[in-house]
Amino acid sequence: MCGIFAYCSFLQEKDRKTICEILCNGLARQEYRGYDSAGIGIDGDNRGEMFFFKEVGKVAGLRKKIAESNVNTSKSFLSQVSIAHTRWATHGPPSVVNCHPLKSDPKAEFTVVHNGIVTNSSALRLVLQKRGYKFESDTDTEAVAILTKYIYDSQPDKRMSFTELVKTVLKELEGSFAFVFKSSHYPNEIVTARRGSPLLIGVKTEKKLKVDFVDVEMAGPDETMDALASPKAGGLLAPPTGPGGPPNLMRSQSRAFMSEDGMPQPIEFFVASDASAIIEHTKRVLYLEDDDIAHISEGELHIHRLRHKDGAPPTASHRTIETLEIELAEIMKGKFDHFMQKEIYEQPESVVNTMRGRVNFDRNQITLGGLRAYLPIIRRGRRIVFCACGTSYHSCIATRAIFEELTEIPVSVELASDFLDRKTPIFRDDVCVFVSQSGETADTILALRYCLERGALCVGVVNVVGSTISRETHCGVHINAGPEIGVASTKAYTSQYIALLMMALQLSEDRISFAERRTMIIEGLHALPSQIRNVLEGDKSLQEFATGVLANQRSLLLMGRGYQYATCLEGALKIKEISYMHSEGILAGELKHGPLALIDENMPVIIVMTQDSLYPKVQSAFAQITARKAQPIVICNENDADIPKGVKTIRVPKTVDCLQGILNIIPLQLLSYHLAVKNGFDVDFPRNLAKSVTTE
Ligand code: F6R
Repeated sequence: MCGIFAYCSFLQEKDRKTICEILCNGLARQEYRGYDSAGIGIDGDNRGEMFFFKEVGKVAGLRKKIAESNVNTSKSFLSQVSIAHTRWATHGPPSVVNCHPLKSDPKAEFTVVHNGIVTNSSALRLVLQKRGYKFESDTDTEAVAILTKYIYDSQPDKRMSFTELVKTVLKELEGSFAFVFKSSHYPNEIVTARRGSPLLIGVKTEKKLKVDFVDVEMAGPDETMDALASPKAGGLLAPPTGPGGPPNLMRSQSRAFMSEDGMPQPIEFFVASDASAIIEHTKRVLYLEDDDIAHISEGELHIHRLRHKDGAPPTASHRTIETLEIELAEIMKGKFDHFMQKEIYEQPESVVNTMRGRVNFDRNQITLGGLRAYLPIIRRGRRIVFCACGTSYHSCIATRAIFEELTEIPVSVELASDFLDRKTPIFRDDVCVFVSQSGETADTILALRYCLERGALCVGVVNVVGSTISRETHCGVHINAGPEIGVASTKAYTSQYIALLMMALQLSEDRISFAERRTMIIEGLHALPSQIRNVLEGDKSLQEFATGVLANQRSLLLMGRGYQYATCLEGALKIKEISYMHSEGILAGELKHGPLALIDENMPVIIVMTQDSLYPKVQSAFAQITARKAQPIVICNENDADIPKGVKTIRVPKTVDCLQGILNIIPLQLLSYHLAVKNGFDVDFPRNLAKSVTTE
């Protein structure tokens, strides 16, 4: 996730200081979407010139940099457009060079801010480099800026409108995005577009608007092209395939804003990823749909459609300007009361982001670009050592069995602190995998350095791009779950789980004997987002458990075995860290070696009993505890008819055994959340805990 912001003012004097302040405020409101670097691009002293301010870290650092610069802050503009971005790195570490806005060339003919991932950016980069274009950054966004310049340069007559130019660019892109484009060739204009990432436009004017909606210019015949028709080069990636000729050069006829008297009027537009960035200026907003392209120029807003190959038709032929009724604090968390709740609910999307561009569901193929060059070394390794703390450690436990099954390499799972205390023997032919959401956990970093010194291949599985672990490992996978603000880790767990599983799938790609199993798992991955949605629909019943049978309990045991042992450990951790209730994850196979002594009619128990090969054994654990009068809550599959009548259940959809833990953990995340809320605890910032544990 990143936050994008643009500010356009027409027919009213605005000095540079005010513009910078508006941009920085817009970014600061969206910092929760990403905070590893921030940047703005504003008009320079001469027409077509631009100034950029960029800083690594939070927006406060950017503000300081602007305040300390010697740029003329009193210079004012009658009309201007400016763009801004707060970044959560996906391609390339946080650095000034990788910070947005990204430009097409030193003169900044085209500049772009972007939220999302362009999955074919490497291919575009190669093509553009072959044509002599130079890249400065590691980002996917720079390829988009340069592609725009390439297409612009390719027209002999330079007559393409800014909108047509951006449409042509967008047709070449794969992945998800929200963009804002600005150009020295089109002063005082911006074009903004979305596919898969949120985008909205705020409108502020003193006068009453003539219309409260904007007509959408539907795709014309030229929109059926699915490859670039460049008059000069004859196509960048492929020749034009559809009917249609060169892009339509006509200006849009769609409806624009005008005052009631039809005269041009002072007006401001604010473009953002999130309404929180806009609400201090105006409550009148227009939400863009996927494949909408909005053009703002001369105080007018026009909306066009891009017909994407598999794009759904728009829901309406116009976009209504809504008046937001909610307050700022509410917007930051959307409709949620806490970030943790929001992050639990984000999982249908965050798991897709983890898989995006990596899982080819048609070909049953996994491609983790960051590992490709190291696959032969990993396959030759004599063992794999997973090393992590807390929730990240649990994701390792959860995936160990499938890793061993698919790779046939022994896997050991280590708690980073214990690993160091034991001075574990590590050798050159070991492959050590360090899993961390923050990438800054001190114990995990020390364990990594210990393994580096001993010559092992070190692989990182991290969420925060540019973090210490992602920089110091030889290679790795970013889980791309987006920023996690709540201290209790939720969406990072499910994304780590999938990242590790994808690693195992890629390592086993040449094993014919596993082909069927791999296909089954990849099909399971495909169905996961909708199954997660289905689990989230059961939230109400989890709230009832928290306020009913589990309210006022002092302790809770969670038991399961096989793949579900990790679910129990992680569920127990969630419950203890935010609801402060003692809870313990127990391997059901260990019951009779001690924990059974705890069981009586007063001991609350949750047993995870979804249908995999160990189901009969868990049934027998269920029988053992119910014989001792326990009244467990059972997490089971939707259609399981073997659960005795009268038993309280939490039903989840069935998936492949090694994926079931992803669905099973979600009710426990929700349960822990409701237990904490019920007790009035600070869900997002539990006592004594920090999001990133940077001390030993
Ligand atoms: C639990 C939790 C912690 C972290 C642990 C490791 O909800 O968040 O247990 O998982 O501190 O942190 P990372 O993954 O950042 O290394």
